[in-house]
Amino acid sequence: MKAIVLNGHGGADALVYDENFPDPKCGENDAIIRVKATSLNYHDIFTRNGMPGIKIQMPMICGLDVAGEIVELGSKVSGWDLGDRVLIDPRNRVAGGLVGETIHGGLAEYCRVADHQLVKIPEGVSYDQASSLPVAYGTAHRMMVTIGKITESDKVLILGASGGVGTGALLLAKMAGAEVVVCASSEEKMDKLKELGADHAMTYMDNQFHKGVYELYGKPGRRGFEGGVNMVVNFTGGETWVPSLRALKRGGRLVTCGATAGFDPKTDIRFIWTFELQLLGSNSWEREDLTQLMDYIQARKMEPVIDKTLPLKEAAEGIRLIEDREVFGKVIINP
Ligand SMILES: NC(=O)c1ccc[n+]([C@@H]2O[C@H](COP(=O)([O-])OP(=O)(O)OC[C@H]3O[C@@H](n4cnc5c(N)ncnc54)[C@H](OP(=O)(O)O)[C@@H]3O)[C@@H](O)[C@H]2O)c1
Repeated sequence: MKAIVLNGHGGADALVYDENFPDPKCGENDAIIRVKATSLNYHDIFTRNGMPGIKIQMPMICGLDVAGEIVELGSKVSGWDLGDRVLIDPRNRVAGGLVGETIHGGLAEYCRVADHQLVKIPEGVSYDQASSLPVAYGTAHRMMVTIGKITESDKVLILGASGGVGTGALLLAKMAGAEVVVCASSEEKMDKLKELGADHAMTYMDNQFHKGVYELYGKPGRRGFEGGVNMVVNFTGGETWVPSLRALKRGGRLVTCGATAGFDPKTDIRFIWTFELQLLGSNSWEREDLTQLMDYIQARKMEPVIDKTLPLKEAAEGIRLIEDREVFGKVIINP
């Protein structure tokens, strides 16, 4: 089959288009999916570069978010038919791996998955839309709703709002009725985020965005003088960490699920105790997050933000666009 193959860690050149990669073999509890759409994530860059503590057996096919149709079923699989439209939940807790990272993923014509990873795609939800969900929107749903408990009374600051997780966080915050301030690296991204519903937009490139928050809502202070936002969404880390603490009002919460710009930033503990801040971690998603999101799409309550769809051959270019911050929302590969 045709596939984008990682033979060893490295830069953009490490991903190679292979026309003769061996087809996957179906085990008795497996399904083979003809891949229709796979969305790219920042995670693919971490996998391509190599992450401390994660050993990847080469060659590896990246691509965590896979949607397609079932073309083969193992002898012990029940409840599914050939031709069913399915989304893959990339977590494989039985085998302990992650599809697209330690198990071959969706940047290929075919993908083998365990039957417990199959999620039905409802009528009215396209393959492209379904494939945009698990890593970005599933994570955003858990972070904003389950962990962050966002409500209409929240004022939320979202960093990295133009990316996959970021656009998901913005759409979910607006669905909850919150007031949303977004941070992005360019005027063009800020304008697009406002079109998506952001109430305010500002740059964070100078790491002074807490001052923008003070201009909007006043400076956080002691009881009775409470400016700032209630919630900051920060999966950027690095130099953005301390200004994020400074932007929060007394009792505010900072939710995080990642660290695109650095996982060991300087911090300032004084803000945490003085303003009784809560730091909340959130990791991945549960199956219910995916089914809930597909229900929202089906009911036309939510439309995932898709920037581009590209053919399989151009997957490495798609990953480059993400790395160089030239993307708004998701990039989808159609093998
Ligand atoms: N724990 C989990 O389960 C989980 C799941 C999904 C994602 N994550 C993490 O969440 C983060 C975002 O993932 P994603 O797939 O949404 O990424 P993405 O689509 O590339 O979006 C990231 C956004 O962050 C901004 N950014 C800030 N600093 C950046 C930098 N140094 N390099 C590149 N972009 C930067 C960019 O917007 P501007 O150009 O406007 O700044 C970009 O749009 C990643 O760190 C990822 O590993 C974690």
